Amino acid sequence: MKAAIIFSSSHGTTEKVAKQIQHELGNENAHIFNLKSIKSIDLSLFDTLIIGGSIHAGQMQGKVKRFCNKNLVDLLQKRVGLFMVGMNEPEFETEFSNAFPELLRKHAITSKCVGGEFLFEKMNFIEKLIVKKVSGIRQNVSKIDESKISELALDIKGK
Ligand SMILES: Cc1cc2nc3c(=O)[nH]c(=O)nc-3n(C[C@H](O)[C@H](O)[C@H](O)COP(=O)(O)O)c2cc1C
Repeated sequence: MKAAIIFSSSHGTTEKVAKQIQHELGNENAHIFNLKSIKSIDLSLFDTLIIGGSIHAGQMQGKVKRFCNKNLVDLLQKRVGLFMVGMNEPEFETEFSNAFPELLRKHAITSKCVGGEFLFEKMNFIEKLIVKKVSGIRQNVSKIDESKISELALDIKGK
């Protein structure tokens, strides 16, 4: 297997999850690409693509959406895993449906919502206000679902 884990992250949680997936797949089998710093990826080098990002105000990171839409035809020729990082569990299904194109969601061999974190020291003033108002949470909280990350890695390894 030659896998690429492609992600975008605002405060580092999706990056943390991407590194955990890489570790579970075996570092030698999986390369990591942060869409914030990478302009283009040679997808022909990989048979497996794992794509993920976080949700802010109900929406997936724009960089992830653009990557999926731009490369959709290529992605449909590969083994694909999708993951989403977020904190509003009741909305996960809707957020996930809006996050990735329908064709890609249907094509993916595994899809996981892996929870997320609120890291107040990394938020700007407005973000802090929004999170406190909408969630009522005022302190750092980590709700990363390790079992979902392991399930994703197992699905990728097993199929
Ligand atoms: C301003 C703000 C808005 C957010 N809005 C949502 C949301 O609408 N739905 C959700 O599931 N999570 C929401 N979250 C939670 C983030 O998805 C969570 O903090 C995630 O761990 C961020 O990952 P990142 O650091 O990789 O960007 C929000 C977080 C912030 C700071």
